[in-house]
Amino acid sequence: MIKVPTGSNASILSVGIYRATNVVPNSAIVEKIDSTDEWIQQRTGIETRRFADKNISVIDMGTAAALQAMQRAGISAEQVDVVILATITYPHQTPSGASGIATNIGAHKAAAFDLSAACAGFTYGVGLANDLVRGGTAKHVLVIGSEKISDFTNPTDRATAFIFADGAGAVVVGPSAEQGIGPTAWGSDSDQRDAITMSSWLNFKDTDAPANTIEWPDIVQEGQRVFRWAVFSVSKVGSKAIELAGITPDKLKAFVPHQANLRIIESMAKDMKLSPDVLIADDIRTNGNTSAASIPLAMDALLQAHPEMHGQLALIIGYGAGLAFAAQVIKLP
Ligand SMILES: CC(C)(COP(=O)(O)OP(=O)(O)OC[C@H]1O[C@@H](n2cnc3c(N)ncnc32)[C@H](O)[C@@H]1OP(=O)(O)O)[C@@H](O)C(=O)NCCC(=O)NCCS
Repeated sequence: MIKVPTGSNASILSVGIYRATNVVPNSAIVEKIDSTDEWIQQRTGIETRRFADKNISVIDMGTAAALQAMQRAGISAEQVDVVILATITYPHQTPSGASGIATNIGAHKAAAFDLSAACAGFTYGVGLANDLVRGGTAKHVLVIGSEKISDFTNPTDRATAFIFADGAGAVVVGPSAEQGIGPTAWGSDSDQRDAITMSSWLNFKDTDAPANTIEWPDIVQEGQRVFRWAVFSVSKVGSKAIELAGITPDKLKAFVPHQANLRIIESMAKDMKLSPDVLIADDIRTNGNTSAASIPLAMDALLQAHPEMHGQLALIIGYGAGLAFAAQVIKLP
C-alpha cells in the first residue's frame, strides 16, 4: 500500500499587497479613446487606476506583496512550501514568474509555478492551495496575483484602455484549527474563450513582415458579451460556493469579487440576494481592474477600512478570460 499523507484544516492566514505607484485619472485616458470621465465612471465605476513604473516587473510587485503576506502571517521563507503565481502578463514563457518570486523571498526550495486563469487566477490558486494543505502535500502556500496589464493594453482601444491596471496581492494559505476556506465552485465556459484574448507571440516569428509592423499581443475583449456573461452566469457560481460551504447568504459579512466593473459587482450581489448589510469591496473605483491581483488588493483595502471584518465570512469570486470562474466562502484573515 502506498502511504497517504495527512493534511490539516486550511485557512487564509494573511494578505499582503503592492499598489502600483502612478495614479492615473480618467482625464489622462479619455482623449485617446474619445471618451469622458463621466462615461467611464457611469459604465464601470472607475475614477482612477494605477500603472506601475516602467522598471517595475510582475516579479517585483509579486515579491513585495508576498513578503508583506509572509510578515503578516509570521512565517519565514523556509516555511513556504509552494509559490503559485496567478498572472497573464508575465512576459516569459519560461522559467516561471513564481520561481523568480521564490528566489527573491528566499524560498529557494519551494515548488513554484505560474497559473494562467486570467481574472479567475487568484481564486483558482486559493482552491488549489486549500487542497494542497488539506491533502498534506504542503503546509504553507503563497498564492500571488501579480499583473502589469499596462504592458499589454493598447491605450487607443475603446474597449480596454480605461479598464485595466497594474498591481499585486498575495495570501498565505496554511494550517488552522478550524477550516477557513469553503469548497471551490469552479469551471469555465471554454466555448466562449474567444471573448477575451491576446494574439500569439508566434506572429513575431512566422512572418516576413518587419517586427515593428506586427501587432503586439495586447488584450482585446468583446465588452458587452463579457458583461452579459458575467451578469448572467457568475452570480450562480457564487450561490453554488455559498451552498457548498453549508451556509446561507445571511451568514456572509463581506463580498470581495474580482474588480471588473462596479455594475457587474452590484448586479451579482442582487442576484445572490446578499443582505444590504454585507460589505461589498469596491477597490475598482480607485484602482481599476488588476485581473488576478484584484481580489487580494480589494480584500486588503476592505480590511484596512473595516478592521472588524478580520475573521468574518466573505465570498470571493474570480472570473475572466477562458471564460474561467471560481468562488469560495472564506474566513477573512
Ligand atoms: C466595456 C464596457 C464598460 C462597455 O460598456 P457597454 O455599456 O457595454 O458599452 P457598449 O459597448 O454597449 O457601448 C455603448 C455606447 O458607448 C459607446 N462607447 C463604447 N466604448 C466607449 C468608450 N470607451 N467611451 C465612450 N463611449 C464608448 C459605444 O459607441 C456605444 O455608443 P452608442 O450607444 O451611441 O452606439 C462593458 O461592456 C464592460 O464592462 N464589460 C465587461 C468587461 C470586463 O469586465 N472585462 C474584464 C473581465 S475580467
